Amino acid sequence: MLTSNPSGMPFIGGRFARVDGPLKVTGRAEYSSDYNFPGLLYAVPVCATISTGKITHMDTSHAIKMPGVHEIFTRANIGPLQRVPKHNHGQMILDEHRPPLADDVIRYWGQYVAVVVADTFEQATAAARRVHVEYDAHTPDVRMAMTTGGKTDIDSHRGDTQTGFSTAPVKIDQTYSTPIETHNPIELHASVATWDGHNFTLYETTQSIMNHRRVMAAMLGVPVERMRIVMKFLGSGFGGKLWPWPHALLAAAAARNLERPIKLVVSRKMMFEDVGHRPNTQQRMRLGADHDGRLLSLQQDYLCSTAPNENNKEPCGEATPFLYSTPNLRVTGGLVRRDIAPSTAMRGPGAVPGLFAVESAMDELAVALDMDPVQLRQRNEPKIDESRNVPFSSRHMSECLSEGAKKFGWDKRNPKIGSMREGDTILGWGMASCAWMAARLPADVSVELHADNTARVLSATQDIGTGTYTVLAQLVAEYTGIPLDRITVDIGDSKLPPGPLSGGSMVTASVIPATKQAAEAALHQVMQAATQPGAAFAGTAMDELRVENGRVRRKGDAGNGRSLGSILADAHLDRVSGKGSSKSSSKDADADKLSFHSYGTHFVEVRWQPRIARLRVHRLVTMIDGGRIINERTARNQIEGAIVMGVGMALFEQTEYDARSGAPINSNLADYLVATHADQPALDVTFLDYPDYALNPLGARGVGEIGLAGVAPAIANAVYHATGVRVRQLPIRIEDLLQSRVSV
Ligand code: MOS
Repeated sequence: MLTSNPSGMPFIGGRFARVDGPLKVTGRAEYSSDYNFPGLLYAVPVCATISTGKITHMDTSHAIKMPGVHEIFTRANIGPLQRVPKHNHGQMILDEHRPPLADDVIRYWGQYVAVVVADTFEQATAAARRVHVEYDAHTPDVRMAMTTGGKTDIDSHRGDTQTGFSTAPVKIDQTYSTPIETHNPIELHASVATWDGHNFTLYETTQSIMNHRRVMAAMLGVPVERMRIVMKFLGSGFGGKLWPWPHALLAAAAARNLERPIKLVVSRKMMFEDVGHRPNTQQRMRLGADHDGRLLSLQQDYLCSTAPNENNKEPCGEATPFLYSTPNLRVTGGLVRRDIAPSTAMRGPGAVPGLFAVESAMDELAVALDMDPVQLRQRNEPKIDESRNVPFSSRHMSECLSEGAKKFGWDKRNPKIGSMREGDTILGWGMASCAWMAARLPADVSVELHADNTARVLSATQDIGTGTYTVLAQLVAEYTGIPLDRITVDIGDSKLPPGPLSGGSMVTASVIPATKQAAEAALHQVMQAATQPGAAFAGTAMDELRVENGRVRRKGDAGNGRSLGSILADAHLDRVSGKGSSKSSSKDADADKLSFHSYGTHFVEVRWQPRIARLRVHRLVTMIDGGRIINERTARNQIEGAIVMGVGMALFEQTEYDARSGAPINSNLADYLVATHADQPALDVTFLDYPDYALNPLGARGVGEIGLAGVAPAIANAVYHATGVRVRQLPIRIEDLLQSRVSV
């Protein structure tokens, strides 16, 4: 349809600044904890100081008399909170099924045991400290090392790996592990809950207002029609804000019980205890190849930890079955119970820790074969998705490998360990491939065209900082020709037409068909108005008209035609509204006939100074095959941010649990290390920009998560090249590298 605006910048693929940027940089964007209402009270939870055991006694008598305290809710007086059945056909998703305060059993450190409500945050905090709780504590099991015990599932299987591996002339058999990582969005989780006697309105930090609405309504025992969720801006979530957590229920129950608005903001310490984390993983990789590097067999047997009463799995085989060509493949996964809080999705769940193992093992195989790691991957590039025997919708991994190598200067690499030097600095060059799912979720979108030549797009999806406001505005501009600054994007409210959750990098792909349909339905009404008797184009057939830059004219006519708004005004219409909806990609007639994924490669240079044991990630060249890129600027932000997160994953991030108490002990931003500006390498990101038209009419996939996948193994592989030390347990520590025999 329309591909450019009067300034010549294409609406699709251009480098558009965030339309919500001015609101954010001027402090006018209202984040969930910014909402205030008359009579608002503050809630502060009391957190368990054991990891496993029972509450034997609780004394609130002193705390309740403290200044400003209105109430202290415990199991005795919180009121009814329903349990959502674990199997509800995916209609209601949450990672901690037990309602807060449901019993006296403690299953993890920091579990909420009471909540204090007071006039001010300080009063509530002071009183929460004075709630006296006695426990019968057991010794927690928070060991990170895991052995198989419980049920193991086969995630993917083809051929015969036992024979394939045992008869292979070249073999790799190694185990890799990744630690518990905690999401650390700068915005804390928060709930501001209001109740008017019939209806809840909850201002939440959520990546899915629609799921949040269903879960909260069910657990609080009200019909969904009486539950409204608002989330206008999110200070990121990384998966930690996908599903509801217990604090939201405490806030809503307190609002109901006291008939006052309640604000509950989770502290940074509680962020490590009560709102999920990526579980630790341990993955045994067995790779067999012939002397030419052809994979004969690939096995990945992973374990991950899970909470005592949940079965949350980190599906480490997410990207394994279709990544390489091999006749024999088996991926199995098992859960190991630990006295640690429920885990949840974290950016690129499964694929990110999974690819650390797969892509480290591939590098070890390249070393064993004395073969270039890029060549090894090229040699095993599959023609189809061999796990399902279907073609790929659009896969350009081979180009990611060759173009990435070219941009990086890979042909200058000397494979000998520690051989590339600059003075007393050793250069390590490593690389890894990556992949991430692509799919569409169901989405409803409305587009309104107004008589003042503005447009509005409505959908109950949300922008978690990735650029959804901007992308939706671009889509409406593309399909109506109305410029971006005349388009209002109305999202983040569950009363709007139901939109997709912000997870799995799926929002952009999901809203495209619905927005196109809605815009076309609205334009159709304008055309009807335009061709009515007495109207500007009376007597003209609708298909003789065209819309360009927000104006209607006859095909072939010179001149400007008439603006959409003036046609509506002539017809005495304030606005017209069109509806559109996208189906889930799994509901497509040919859903089973194609394999949808995004692909990429990372090439890394690390610099190792052995005399002072200093390691730095110096530069990265990244290629991303993420379908058509809708906004080059916001997309690049996603990939660059994810790469920086990958530097943290490779070198710093690890939540540490005290073996005696079971407490996460580095539960603050001073002790839990994330990559900072000073750690950031020079980044060079390229999008291949091949449209994937099987997924939606613009061919867009999504880029929220893939940038993190593959970064940590690329860095570990580069570290091996520099130092000769193969680190199979993240994060890579200086202590590991002191074994290096490379000297200068
Ligand atoms: Mo992402 S872990 O699906 O928010």
